[in-house]
Amino acid sequence: MRLRSLLFIPADSEKKLHKGDDVAADALILDLEDAVVAANKPAARSLALCYLQARQQNRRSQLWVRINPVDTPEAVIDLESVMAGRPDGIVQPKTRSVDDVIELGERLHRLETELDIEPGSTRILPLATETPQAMFTLGQFSRCDQRLAALTWGAEDLRAALGASANKDGDGNWTFPYQVARAFCLFGASAAGVPAIDTIHADFRDADSLHSSCIAARRDGFSGKLAIHPNQVEVINEVFMPDAGEIAHAQRIIAAFAAHPDAGAVGLDGQMLDIPHLKLARKILTMAGMDPGE
Ligand code: COA
Ligand code: MG
Repeated sequence: MRLRSLLFIPADSEKKLHKGDDVAADALILDLEDAVVAANKPAARSLALCYLQARQQNRRSQLWVRINPVDTPEAVIDLESVMAGRPDGIVQPKTRSVDDVIELGERLHRLETELDIEPGSTRILPLATETPQAMFTLGQFSRCDQRLAALTWGAEDLRAALGASANKDGDGNWTFPYQVARAFCLFGASAAGVPAIDTIHADFRDADSLHSSCIAARRDGFSGKLAIHPNQVEVINEVFMPDAGEIAHAQRIIAAFAAHPDAGAVGLDGQMLDIPHLKLARKILTMAGMDPGE
């Protein structure tokens, strides 16, 4: 399951939902939370369910739903409204700790059983840095089961919680508190053995700064990025897709280890390779949508 590009679509907009069919995002996230005002949430839930049900088979993109925070009554209604549409996963906002994710998993389990959906098949993607308290718990996501698809992070709710006047400096770089959140998302995901997905690039008309932020994210170990506008998807897909040279090199590393199954270190082109190189090579193939082997 590849998650390079994940496009948010406000689920109360029929027009934007329709547009989602033409976008080559790995996942569409039908939003029931912050992009939808309270008065429109009932309509958004109905539209999201219809959208999911009309695309039950052969989905071109995975279809995810962002529900409201798990400690609100809205979240209960969200899940009861959309689960019959068998979403591929749930994006969980304002996660306070891994306990919120475990609680969501339990609710999903109950609904899956009721609706005859394979238990455990609905994945979860937490927005893991949207609350200040979550920042102190990012090392604990290995307690989640296989529902945990990845971790991603958010800077806007965190900024609101802190009462900060900005989260980027004059050059468009994250200020220090948000660099910490970004890095903790990476460390937390890696510690839990799942991919890390970079946050949105809000300046959706500026393809150059989006491209730079994707390059920086991939360099640091993110596997993909959230999008808010269809035009962002192509740039994200391109940057997070390993090129032919990288794929060939990764395949050679894997072959070198396969040829010496008892060795923890091998030589290739005069360079020493050990287990971290093998892990990285497998990650490259996963990002390319290929089978990474064991
Ligand atoms: N998903 C699907 N379609 C979208 C879209 C999205 N996220 N964002 C824009 N579009 C559509 C528009 O409806 C428009 O369609 P049209 O050509 O048929 O008229 C087209 O793409 C071009 O849109 P554009 O005019 O450039 O943008 P906009 O001013 O209509 O919308 C935003 C700008 C930011 C409001 C919009 O991109 C959006 O709603 N983004 C998602 C917001 C969100 O979900 N936030 C929550 C997560 S942070
Ligand atoms: Mg938000």
